[in-house]
This record gives sequence, C-alpha cells and structure tokens, in this order.
Amino acid sequence: MASNTLTIIDNRTGKKYEVPVENGAIRAMDLRQIKVGDDDFGLMTYDPAFMNTAACKSKITFIDGDKGILRYRGYPIDQLAEQSTYLETAYLILYGELPTQAQLNEWHDNVIHHTIIHENIKKLMDGFHHDAHPMGMLVSTVAALSTFYPDAKNIFDEELRRKQTWRLIGKMITLAAFAYRHSIGMPYAYPDNDLSYTGNLLNMMFKMTEVKYRPHPVLEKALDVLFILHADHEQNCSANAMRSVGSSHVDPYSAIAAAAAALYGPLHGGANEEVLHMLQQIGSIDRVPEFIKKAKAGEGRLMGFGHRVYKNYDPRAKVIKRLADQVFEVTGVNPLLKIALELERIALEDEYFVKRKLYPNVDFYSGLIYQAMGFPLDMFPVLFAIPRASGWIAQWEELILDPEQRIARPRQLFLGHAERPYVPIVKRK
Ligand code: CMC
Repeated sequence: MASNTLTIIDNRTGKKYEVPVENGAIRAMDLRQIKVGDDDFGLMTYDPAFMNTAACKSKITFIDGDKGILRYRGYPIDQLAEQSTYLETAYLILYGELPTQAQLNEWHDNVIHHTIIHENIKKLMDGFHHDAHPMGMLVSTVAALSTFYPDAKNIFDEELRRKQTWRLIGKMITLAAFAYRHSIGMPYAYPDNDLSYTGNLLNMMFKMTEVKYRPHPVLEKALDVLFILHADHEQNCSANAMRSVGSSHVDPYSAIAAAAAALYGPLHGGANEEVLHMLQQIGSIDRVPEFIKKAKAGEGRLMGFGHRVYKNYDPRAKVIKRLADQVFEVTGVNPLLKIALELERIALEDEYFVKRKLYPNVDFYSGLIYQAMGFPLDMFPVLFAIPRASGWIAQWEELILDPEQRIARPRQLFLGHAERPYVPIVKRK
C-alpha cells in the first residue's frame, strides 16, 4: 500500500476506501464515491467559511500563521518592506520574479502613464453625494471602468491582460484621490508623470495652488512601505471574492469591484477605519481596562486584533510599528498612539487574548499613520484597496490560467422542506 494515501472506513456500510493525499490534502471529489446506496449523491465535506478547504493551488503568497511568516514569491515581507518599492513588489507578485532595472523602468512608465482617467468617470464621481463614503465611490467607479475598456472582456489575451493591469494599478490612485477631492469639494488634481506612484497619490489628494506638488520624502516612502505590506495576503475574503467572481470569466474591472466590496467590510479592510473609531471612543488611557473588559464580555471586539490565519504577531504589524516612529517624527505623534500602546500592552498580557492567540494585526497601527499623514478615516479602506489591486490581479490571473479551475460553485446541505403542494392564499393560516 502506498504511504501517501488515506484509508477511510465508512461505518454506515463497513466499506473501505483509499484516497490519495497530495500536498497535504485529499481531493474533496474523491469522497464522492463514498455512498450508502446507488441513489446517494455521495459524501461531501461541510466547511462554512472555508476553515479547512484549499480552493486553489497558488505560487504567489505564503503565510505561516503560527510562526508569523509572510512571503511574496518566496521573499520575506520585512526584506521587501526594507529594500523594495511598491511597484517593484507589485511586479514580483504579478509576474513571479523581481524585475531587472530595464523591466522595472518599463513597468513603472506603463503604470504611471495609465493613471489618467476618462473625463466621463469624473462626471460619474460628481454624481455622488458630498458625504458619500470614498470606498463606495471606488467600488462603483472601478466597476464603471469596464464600460470604458470593453477589450477587457478578452481575458485570455495575454497582451490585453497586461494592458488592463497597467490601467487598473495606474487608475486606482486616481479614483481614490478624486473620491477624496469630491468629498471636500476641491477641484480634482491630475496625475504628474514625474512623481512616484505614492508621490502621485499624495499629489492628487493634497495639491493646492502650488504649480508643482512635492511630496515629503519620508511620508512618500512610508506610504510606499504600507503599500508593500498590503499588496497581497493569499486567500483572504477579497481574494476569494476576486477568484469567485473572476471564475465566471467576467472582465477584471468587474471582478476587482467585487473584491473591493469584500474588502470594505469591517471584519476585513474596513477594520483600520474601525480601529480609529474605537481609539477615539476609548478617548483616554484610563478607560482602556474598561474597554478590554467589555470586549471580553462579547460587547464589541477589539478592532485590529485577531486574525483567521495569524496565531502570532502579524509580521506586517511589526514593520508598521517601526514605520510609525519615522512618520511621527515628521508629523508629530498621533495622540491616539498612547491609547493603542496601552491596549496592546494589556491585551497581550490578558488571559482571554493570550488563550485565543489574538495579536495586533496589520490594521491596528496603520490607521494611526494614515491619520497622522492627513488622510481622513474613511479613506483608510481605500488606502488598503489601492495596493491590494496588484494581489487581486495576480490571484485572478493565476485562476484563469489554471486548467483545474472552473466556475466557482459550492455545494450546500439542504435542510429545508421536502416537496409540498402550493397552498392558495385563501387557505393559508
Ligand atoms: N476582539 C475580541 N475577541 C475576539 C477578537 C477581537 N478582535 N477576534 C476574535 N475574538 C475572539 C472571538 O470572540 C472568539 O472567541 P470564542 O472562542 O470565545 O467564541 C475567538 O476569539 C475566535 O474568533 P473568531 O471570530 O472565531 O475568529 P475568526 O478567525 O473567524 O475571525 C477576525 C478573524 C479577523 C474576523 C476576528 O479576529 C476579528 O473580528 N477581528 C477584529 C476585526 C479585524 O481587526 N479585522 C482585520 C483582519 S486583518 C486585515 C485583513 O486581512 O482584513
């Protein structure tokens, strides 16, 4: 008997089955042969929220949640944060290898030359309420891009996919900045091809009357590092949305709109905004113990804490904590930092959090930096979505090129009524 198999005995029938184990997993379809009778559908697995189901094979991002390890294409996140740039990392995530200088220059030019958006998208922006959440504006306008680039439907054309990638990554910063400018009633500021990717975002957000906007180099670099940290995170909720929607072979703009909508939720990318609301609500250090007590009693969660995969300190949070010091040297310390540090200190010692392995995640400190840099709270999830676009596209491309993938279509355990005759309304009780 081969050792890389699993033997299953069905106690309902006494039958014995042997299924192969490959890469530490069995194929769920191999269970279908396990039946109690000829008309039995066959055994399925029940796994709400995909707690123990691999839905794809991937070569992009590796996470070891117990050890607190995160790598893109084999490169540790702290090395990328230290030595790479967001656009270089995006290239790595998308194409599998770090670019040569020539490849990087070409990639940079292509992305930066696709930052301008069609004037009609601007009109679409104008239609939103002044207090529209910028994430809602981003989700809608990124979806609308599909109508401007109908060639994006040709998802199996490699050249066209490359073009949509430049457009998507390039235009994310413009859509984000325009959403912000609309919310404060300021005229839109256009991209400047002389500036870096993050320099351009800062330019389009904060440019006033100066002829040329010059981003502060420390803040420009800090934003770039934050973008590296957020670029991909394997099969999270929004990557799963990207893959699930993309599996219908819709264009990438529509799939990214779905992924961004998934990211918007407070349990995912919306958490960074919630952290700041939480810190503001706590208000002062002496109120931290009371807040922790409530979180332990199930009255609200400690936002920015806990993770489905990390059962150790989130390696991204470690980098962010260091980065915060550099930013605060320029901007002045965010007064909420003291509350955050005290929350972390108490939570890391508290049995409730220790037992459940709840550590600060990427969202715990990122919001403090964004706020110190002058971003309003509702822009935080948008700042998460911008860099994650490269991860979403990489996940999508891997999906559509994987011959094993088909349209995503889970099964269900139907527990509702068996067939019953229709009851006319006059006879209903
Ligand atoms: N505060 C207090 N208790 C918590 C928290 C928290 N932040 N997170 C989890 N728990 C408790 C939870 O109540 C449960 O306790 P019990 O076993 O007694 O019922 C236990 O820990 C396990 O929690 P879970 O909800 O089953 O874990 P999950 O893997 O389904 O959820 C999570 C992961 C990130 C949604 C959750 O930890 C959470 O809601 N955290 C706060 C929101 C947040 O910071 N989200 C950002 C995630 S990182 C960025 C990203 O990738 O989106």
